[in-house]
Amino acid sequence: MKRIVKLLVIINVLFIQYVAASKSNLIDHPDSVYLFSYGSGNPAAGLQFAWSTDKKNWKLIGTGNGFLRCDYGPGGTQKKMFDPFLIYGADGIWHCIWSLNATEQIYAHAASENLIDWNRQSYSIVSKGSNFLRPGIKFNLDKKSYLVTYTDANGKFFAVSTTNFKRNEPATEISAGDYIPSVEVYLPLGKVSGQIHRVEWSVVDRLIKAYELRNFRNIVKEESSLQDTYRFAGLKPIEAKFVVDAENARPISNTLIGIFFEDLNYAADGGLYAELIQNRDFEYDLHDKFGRDKSWNHSHSWFSAGEGTSFIIDSMGPIHRNNLHYAVLKTGAHGGSLINSGYDGIALKKGESYNFSLFSKLLDRDKGKLKVRLIGSKGEVYAETLLTVTSGNWRNSKAVLTSNATIADAKLELQALQAGKLAVDLVSLFPQDTYKGRVNGLRADLAETIADIHPRFVRFPGGCLAHGDGINNIYRWKNTIGPLEARKPQRNIWHYHQSVGLGYFEYFQFCEDIGAAPLPVIAAGVPCQNSVDGGNGQQGGIPMAQMDEYIQDIIDLIEWANGGVNTKWGKVRAEAGHPKPFNLKYIGVGNEDLITDVFEERFTMIVNALKKVHPEIVVIGTSGPNFEGTDYREGWEIASRLKIPIVDEHCYNRAGWFINNQNFYDSYDRSKPKVYLGEYAATVPGKGANFESALSEAIYLTSLERNADVVSMTSYAPLLAREGHTQWNPDMIYFNNTEVKLTAAYQVQKLYGQNSGDQYLPASVTLSNNQDAVKNRVAISVVRDSNSKDLIIKFVNLLPVAVKVTTDLNNIVPIGEKITKTVLQGQLTDKNVSPFVTEAPLAEINSTELAPYSFTVLRAKTK
Ligand code: AHR
Repeated sequence: MKRIVKLLVIINVLFIQYVAASKSNLIDHPDSVYLFSYGSGNPAAGLQFAWSTDKKNWKLIGTGNGFLRCDYGPGGTQKKMFDPFLIYGADGIWHCIWSLNATEQIYAHAASENLIDWNRQSYSIVSKGSNFLRPGIKFNLDKKSYLVTYTDANGKFFAVSTTNFKRNEPATEISAGDYIPSVEVYLPLGKVSGQIHRVEWSVVDRLIKAYELRNFRNIVKEESSLQDTYRFAGLKPIEAKFVVDAENARPISNTLIGIFFEDLNYAADGGLYAELIQNRDFEYDLHDKFGRDKSWNHSHSWFSAGEGTSFIIDSMGPIHRNNLHYAVLKTGAHGGSLINSGYDGIALKKGESYNFSLFSKLLDRDKGKLKVRLIGSKGEVYAETLLTVTSGNWRNSKAVLTSNATIADAKLELQALQAGKLAVDLVSLFPQDTYKGRVNGLRADLAETIADIHPRFVRFPGGCLAHGDGINNIYRWKNTIGPLEARKPQRNIWHYHQSVGLGYFEYFQFCEDIGAAPLPVIAAGVPCQNSVDGGNGQQGGIPMAQMDEYIQDIIDLIEWANGGVNTKWGKVRAEAGHPKPFNLKYIGVGNEDLITDVFEERFTMIVNALKKVHPEIVVIGTSGPNFEGTDYREGWEIASRLKIPIVDEHCYNRAGWFINNQNFYDSYDRSKPKVYLGEYAATVPGKGANFESALSEAIYLTSLERNADVVSMTSYAPLLAREGHTQWNPDMIYFNNTEVKLTAAYQVQKLYGQNSGDQYLPASVTLSNNQDAVKNRVAISVVRDSNSKDLIIKFVNLLPVAVKVTTDLNNIVPIGEKITKTVLQGQLTDKNVSPFVTEAPLAEINSTELAPYSFTVLRAKTK
């Protein structure tokens, strides 16, 4: 019997060896070479390769070129790969494990069929050793499992047996002799430890080609106008002939241009939200900035004035449990003041009225007087009013202040006229002139600027802000509606504070006011990929026991937005002043998430629940932070499997990338989900953004219109940035208290938003110069808007010379005598450019000249 068992084991072993060998990577093929896998001195670079025919002379496949990078933990301090160990498994798949850092008892694993596309990573905790260092693996033939060995900081050796690298298997201590070491070889960059594999040449060939492609992309993305002087030296004006093929017109998305609003760069509080009082509720907290800024506390932006006057922060008798902190002003014999400095001051306009409101109570007398003033730094008084305050319960007082001057940096003064203790909270000052006059409304100039883009949708409340940097930081819409004092403020992932005064009601109302569809993004049950509070090093997720409640919140959101006034949540909306439904159609689930098992489980639950309860809602899925790589691939796979209608992709890159990747969507599978390019922006090295990056976006947008049968939505990101509080560059619109500063990127978005169509008319191009660099820099997009019947032609010229254009419209017949011609033109280094709009003769639709470095839109009426 024993002999039979032994024989069976041997047969099994031989079979497994045969399977492994027949998968071809390891077979000693006539053209086999040696492949060396290693991690270099830079642990962020990840797994690298070199190859050799004799194991002596090694050729690097790129220097510092990682084919697999670590996802573990937050960027910066983590996401490092130490001592990767690669093995070709009996399953015909490459398996790589590595050490993450010098402290944790965790190892990482990823698998790949071709060493180029890697599956999602997993992290397993080991039960023994002070940490996990210098791993090794071998296939444990008789057990059909892998033996992982490692050492720790105390020089002990351990082994873990695993079948899938995902479970936390128990470790045992082993002797040094049973430890699986790496080997050391001399590479051109010095002595390196790693593993030697015997592989067919085709394996190495693929790696080299993948490296070259990446290299090529990196080179073209670095292309910039700085090279134009020699790249286009002696270039003569170009002639371009476009022939429009109206016969093959095809329908395209009429929701292509939208906006993405995120409370980043003070975009909400201190930005679009028109509140002028900073820290109005005394809820700023040291934790908002992880204690790194001691001045960022409950007193931030407030100070007291007057002899014997001071203030403290209390929380014993709050207005509401969600708004615990308030100020107690202790005044001297002659009274005293509590003053708020606003957001870099309070901007006032002469003759304009401001709605003031506060909650107050006197703590040690029955009645008192409170003078409310808008003041200047030298004692100027721009407006004042007198309120009576009483003891007992919190009382809300309101007043209107009309300014007698235009001033950029006033302050609000609450002047108690008597000695004693006065408690105040939720001190608020709004211009009456908010966008569309809304109460608790939005800054009119910013809102109008956004509305001018004619966005078809608004994605909110973020990006990273939506999923937060930990489970407790996930944005919960229910915390953001209702009376202001009952809303639940929270730490902003961008290291400041969210009052949530601009909450879901205000977002939806804004969408309605500008005629855009609301697109709320809710977390897919997981926080940001850089979160630190997850399990096993990844972002973690809402505990399964709480997922039903979390999903119910999403279902409630739909009822709140769309339900009748007799439904539970529809009633809440109606009571807030909006009995009519908001017509919510889209919901984004997830943002740039790391595609892990934790993500997939929660995302699938949410999507399935939405499909079941609200099949009418269009779900927008997510595909990681990048337009390539593991999260992108796996995000798309999940979305395709779940038949999600639209997938959100993000692309921040250099202007050169956008110029050279105009074919990016040409090959997208039209049978798969549609694309929402939810965040994108072009940058210029070291300079943020300028007219060059804006033109590269304009040229890329011609390709998005061409592909608008598969790309159904786009939004530039980020949208808003307050000067002096800008955390991310570039942004579309910059502002301070009194000015809105439009970028060239804004002008491009506006021209596309105002000149969208729902039909795309292909056009062939013949240029008088055939250089690739020239061809990539001249683009056309022809669309028709079926409502207005207008024909719209967009031309981008990213060359330093003029382009003389003739356009054959075939049987399209423009009517009228004039067309509208809008041109953006400038120097590539310009930060701002203004559109030049003219009524041009009708003939220009067929023959026009594009100025050097310009974006031109021609709009003609047709029959
Ligand atoms: O747009 C800024 C940030 O970029 C978003 O929050 C996030 O989704 C992306 O990384």
